Amino acid sequence: MATARLQVIGGGRMGEALLAGLVAEGWAPVDELRLVERLPDRADELRARFPGLVVDEEPSHADGHVLAVKPDDVEAACRALASTGARAPVLSIAAGVPLARLEAALGRGTPVVRAMPNTPALVGAGAAALAAGTAASEDDLTWAESVLGAVGTVVRVDEPLLDAVTGLSGSGPAYVFLVAEALVDAGVLVGLPRPVAAALTRQTLLGAARLLDESGESPEALRAAVTSPGGTTASGLRALEAAGVRSALLDAVVAATERSRELGRS
Ligand SMILES: NC(=O)c1ccc[n+]([C@@H]2O[C@H](COP(=O)([O-])OP(=O)(O)OC[C@H]3O[C@@H](n4cnc5c(N)ncnc54)[C@H](OP(=O)(O)O)[C@@H]3O)[C@@H](O)[C@H]2O)c1
Repeated sequence: MATARLQVIGGGRMGEALLAGLVAEGWAPVDELRLVERLPDRADELRARFPGLVVDEEPSHADGHVLAVKPDDVEAACRALASTGARAPVLSIAAGVPLARLEAALGRGTPVVRAMPNTPALVGAGAAALAAGTAASEDDLTWAESVLGAVGTVVRVDEPLLDAVTGLSGSGPAYVFLVAEALVDAGVLVGLPRPVAAALTRQTLLGAARLLDESGESPEALRAAVTSPGGTTASGLRALEAAGVRSALLDAVVAATERSRELGRS
């Protein structure tokens, strides 16, 4: 069997989303991808979803590897990969596992790129940042960008900034879901049936995000454009500012960043 172009180690939610994105984007045909998944039932599920995909129990040689196992399983997966003698680039998406630990477990000289993706990657709309390890070249970074680019946007940062990325975009979807929950309740409070409030909230968040993305305008400009003098939005915004929503968001990102640093040290 020819060497795979990419082997994804860990067939969980992220591993599956990556495979789906890579195939959908035409990054590689299914028969050039491999998956390592230890659970037989899960392996069968993924073989059924991706006809032609080879799913193994142990890693093997490939042109590149993605580590998509839970953080606690990362070192064992790295050692299993290292024992094959593989020296191809490795992209790790395991939250909070530092490059130094990945490099130590994989062995000296293996190019490693560490990434922090987020859950919208599951629908191809992720925001990820990546950082290069000591042996990773420009080509390895470009390769890692192309892999994660199949499920969203990718930026490069130095490793110490990955904690800030975790606080902003890693945890960010949860902040937005909390806003969504509150808006649905608010809609009910002002008299809307819950399903109507839920539908309007979902589309408002989606529409606002698309407008922000597609218009090229800043958030400030878009907000000013819907705030007419003495109008309803100005009243609503005053209530948000009085409640400290802006500073609460600053605190949320700082708290999540600090927690990420703490977890990285432990
Ligand atoms: N989900 C997200 O949105 C998100 C966001 C940012 C970062 N991440 C990171 O992405 C990684 C994967 O997350 P996930 O949500 O996809 O986790 P998950 O659903 O738990 O998937 C992990 C998979 O890897 C398998 N596995 C564990 N050890 C293995 C090994 N040595 N060889 C082969 N397969 C192995 C697990 O099988 P078993 O059940 O047998 O252990 C499981 O199927 C995590 O490190 C997480 O920190 C996820």
